[in-house]
Amino acid sequence: MDTNRLSDTLAKALNDQMTNEAHNAQIYLSYGAWASDKGYGGISNFLFRHSNEERNHMMKFLEYILKRGAKVVVTAIPEPGPDPINVNDCFEKVFKSEVENTTAIYKIVEMSMQEKDWATWNFMQWFVKEQTEEETMAIDMLDKVKIAGGPNANDDALYNLDKDLATTPDDATLAQDTSVTNP
Ligand code: FEO
Repeated sequence: MDTNRLSDTLAKALNDQMTNEAHNAQIYLSYGAWASDKGYGGISNFLFRHSNEERNHMMKFLEYILKRGAKVVVTAIPEPGPDPINVNDCFEKVFKSEVENTTAIYKIVEMSMQEKDWATWNFMQWFVKEQTEEETMAIDMLDKVKIAGGPNANDDALYNLDKDLATTPDDATLAQDTSVTNP
């Protein structure tokens, strides 16, 4: 009896996204190592913690594919690419990679709608919200870097930024979580 509840097309897209999340984990890992090497302990710790989040995302896709009775295909993870040239470049690259990830997530949502696979559509809504959060996080980081001087930030500003990031919460506050009394 066939217990597979995913179409071949969606199973492939979900497997590809599982690899994308592993790729994202490698990107944060490599930027974290770069930041540590440059002496930015706070930034590095923030990026390492986020790398773990990406691995959790990878596991969510893996679990979902298994639970729907389809086959998980674990492949090689693409390389994270070159190191950032400075802190500003680091967070610009983070933002760009999160936007690319959002595009990939939306594509799967669209595919699940076309197939009327409402289970996958429902599963993907967690990621739609998560991507809003991840993009907000990246924008917040870019705002902080901008205040510190952007690509021209001096050592003092970077020292303070690094201290700040050591205590920055992992999750950004979304517009839907705010109120008049708690904006
Ligand atoms: Fe799993 Fe940062 O997206």
